[in-house]
Amino acid sequence: MKVFKIASIPGDGIGPEVLEQGIRVLERVAELEGGFSFSFTHFPWGCEYYLKHNKMMDEDGMAQLAQHDAIYLGAVGFPGVPDHISLWGLLLKIRKGFDQYVNLRPVQLLKGAPCPLKDVGTEDIDMLVIRENSEGEYAGAGDRLFQGQPNEVVLQTGVFSRKGTERIIRYAYEVARKEGKTLSSISKANALNYSMVFWDEIFQEVGKEYPDITTYSYLVDAASMFFVKDPKRFQIVVTSNLFGDILTDLGAAIAGGMGLAAGANINPEGKYPSMFEPIHGSAPDIAGQNKSNPLAAIWSASQMLDHLGYPQWGRKVLAAIEALMVEGAVLTPDMGGNGTTYEVGSEIIKLLEKM
Ligand code: NAD
Ligand code: IPM
Ligand code: MN
Repeated sequence: MKVFKIASIPGDGIGPEVLEQGIRVLERVAELEGGFSFSFTHFPWGCEYYLKHNKMMDEDGMAQLAQHDAIYLGAVGFPGVPDHISLWGLLLKIRKGFDQYVNLRPVQLLKGAPCPLKDVGTEDIDMLVIRENSEGEYAGAGDRLFQGQPNEVVLQTGVFSRKGTERIIRYAYEVARKEGKTLSSISKANALNYSMVFWDEIFQEVGKEYPDITTYSYLVDAASMFFVKDPKRFQIVVTSNLFGDILTDLGAAIAGGMGLAAGANINPEGKYPSMFEPIHGSAPDIAGQNKSNPLAAIWSASQMLDHLGYPQWGRKVLAAIEALMVEGAVLTPDMGGNGTTYEVGSEIIKLLEKM
């Protein structure tokens, strides 16, 4: 029997409570399927670990993670440790170190999900945002000179390499072709006169290899407006690291909330493990109350099942999430219910057992 080795990093705040539910679901899926199982290794890394050890992960943490088939992460960041320390020491270190340059973030309105938009149905919000995940505005390039002085200067440089830009755009064209969908590139070449002019050129250049794909090009400000006013115009979306970060929180808001938004950090070459996580943060405002919504973590578990070669189970988990929301009996407070995090996990398992 195939045993998948999964590195679990519950992390901070609500991370552990939502991840626990995703793990319960994965374990039940494996039992129901019978042909594979999971072996989880739990890593206690995060802000508490930092306060004890002055580092976010073990010295040889990346080498330990590399031994696994996939990584399942809760959330990172908590008051008491500066965010740029905690995130660069763990989440971003993994995304970059394992060259997980594709960030797949579905913005899909499932049946039963709360939607704040008027006259919008499930068929109107069904996109996949493909976010560049390794460089761009989050390359970490910059400097801070004359700190605290009147002549202080701060640089935060966007880094767009030909290799990095081409590979994410080509990946998006391939997905559009495979799924028979349109592809929208979101950039900002009117103001970002180097990086985004380059991005748009590469989008055109790579597009010559894909004459069968219908493409659109949007400025990010207008695209944000259309996400709200007319989301159905977007199918496959490709965009830079920063724009993808912002647009997918907006996407979450129109498609059920932060408690439902999932993301997969993929190293397409399979040289390193890929990482699956909810896109929300550690939500310190509700941490430890057993009322966080675990559906985003469970949706990212479904992405993990797709990635490991069991898309039929990925679809079933998604169908269970949908059934739970349609049923409406067990929901966390962010979705208007009074269920607990754990109860939502149990209900998903019950629904899976009935499928
Ligand atoms: P956040 O996503 O943690 O929370 C934003 C709002 O959404 C909060 O009101 C929160 O209660 C709510 N929310 C988020 N997830 C929820 C869930 N599953 N169920 C119910 N409600 C949920 O964003 P933030 O407050 O800006 O950031 C908090 C911390 O998390 C910061 O340290 C930040 O850097 C970090 N962060 C980490 C990640 C990650 O690990 N992937 C992502 C985003 C933010
Ligand atoms: C996300 C998060 C991270 C990002 C932060 C915490 C570094 O907001 O995954 O969306 O910007 O990528
Ligand atoms: Mn984000």
